[in-house]
Amino acid sequence: MDLRTLFTLGTLFLGCLPVSAASSAQEPNYDEEKAGSYVLPDPLQCLNGSRVATAKEWEQERRPEILRLFEEHVYGVRPQSALQARIRVAVLAREPEALQGRATRYRIRLDLPEAPRWAGLEMLAYVPAHATAPVPFFLGLNFEGNHAVTWEPSIPVNPGRIRDSQWRPPRNGVPSDWEKSRGSEYSRWLPEELMDAGFGLVTAYYGDIEPDWAEGWKSGVRGALSPEGEGTKWRGNEWGAISAWAWGLSRMLDAVPAIPELDPSRCAVIGHSRLGKTALWAGATDPRFSVVISNDSGEGGAALMRRNYGETLEVITRRFPHWFAGGLAGFVGRERELPTDQHLLVALMAPRPVAIGSAEEDRWADPRGEYLSGWHAGAVYGLYGKQGLPGPDWPGLGVLGDAVQYHLRQGPHDLTREDWTHYLAFCRRHWGVR
Ligand code: GCU
Repeated sequence: MDLRTLFTLGTLFLGCLPVSAASSAQEPNYDEEKAGSYVLPDPLQCLNGSRVATAKEWEQERRPEILRLFEEHVYGVRPQSALQARIRVAVLAREPEALQGRATRYRIRLDLPEAPRWAGLEMLAYVPAHATAPVPFFLGLNFEGNHAVTWEPSIPVNPGRIRDSQWRPPRNGVPSDWEKSRGSEYSRWLPEELMDAGFGLVTAYYGDIEPDWAEGWKSGVRGALSPEGEGTKWRGNEWGAISAWAWGLSRMLDAVPAIPELDPSRCAVIGHSRLGKTALWAGATDPRFSVVISNDSGEGGAALMRRNYGETLEVITRRFPHWFAGGLAGFVGRERELPTDQHLLVALMAPRPVAIGSAEEDRWADPRGEYLSGWHAGAVYGLYGKQGLPGPDWPGLGVLGDAVQYHLRQGPHDLTREDWTHYLAFCRRHWGVR
């Protein structure tokens, strides 16, 4: 074969590369015309071709199948040690005069006596001071430590490494300036406003469960629960960090009975961005979360993976391989062969209420793709006689839907007071709270 023939063959081969693989080094696509066309897996059609027509068939056949597909291909399979792990709960402090008298505050420690390599996590909970009966509450992970959720000086600064920290950790005898991170996430949690609205709040630092970088699992719960510890060789489909964080959310819910002012049957799991992806996976794997809220969760969260818009599967699996099952990266460039897409993840919440929040400037998270997941999940809500989103057209700014709610607000990627306004109204409506 002469060189010219080789060159021609090479060009032909490259010309056949799937769009997203060929465009891996390119700028993200923000042109709707180039988002691509695709056929989504049908929520109501089983892998063996049979169709489910009732809620019972969904629960017995299609739902378990979809859950398994997400475990195998997207978030990874939890080992038996994680499924069987029993937590130990220790109330460290109960402070009745928190948030200027608005709240009772709990600090609660959770760990695993049978896996002492995991240092455990510290849960911070606020409940309205004058609650006369157990209250509904929000439960979610924070990005920067419990001390970042509040200005209260008595919450100890988290000694763990803070992701992308702009604050220096203590090193070589130089004192920490992490104290400056106190309250840095306050605007995302607004604890006083939640108390005034009659809701409780439970949170913990996600890095306590597993630090968020490629080797983080070694000092997190995944390392502690693996028989080989740091010597573990992860097999392709074992659990990734999102699954570990979601596991942590379930363990926090296990600990809620230590707080008698909270009503465990009315718990909304909530998360922003990567922790929004985590909230969705927690909602899918743990039906005790009676409401599920995804804020700006984007790729790997509420946004459809088959759409080439904003963050893609190629980018997310290259930058954050530790979040997912090892095999997910193998679908880069052949997303259409995935047996899942994220509308099926949203459908796993049915018939529980699920809210999806997007922000107009957060194109990286593909707000339209987030809407479309909610819309396509509606087929499953229909089996329960519940209303999802009203139609396939992305509505633009505003809030709509019923059992599946979607809102788009102005502004950038964040969890804001306006987002909370929508989530509070949503929870009030579904829980019949005034
Ligand atoms: C990055 C990542 C997103 C993620 C976000 C976040 O932007 O690409 O997938 O949601 O970080 O968690 O803040």
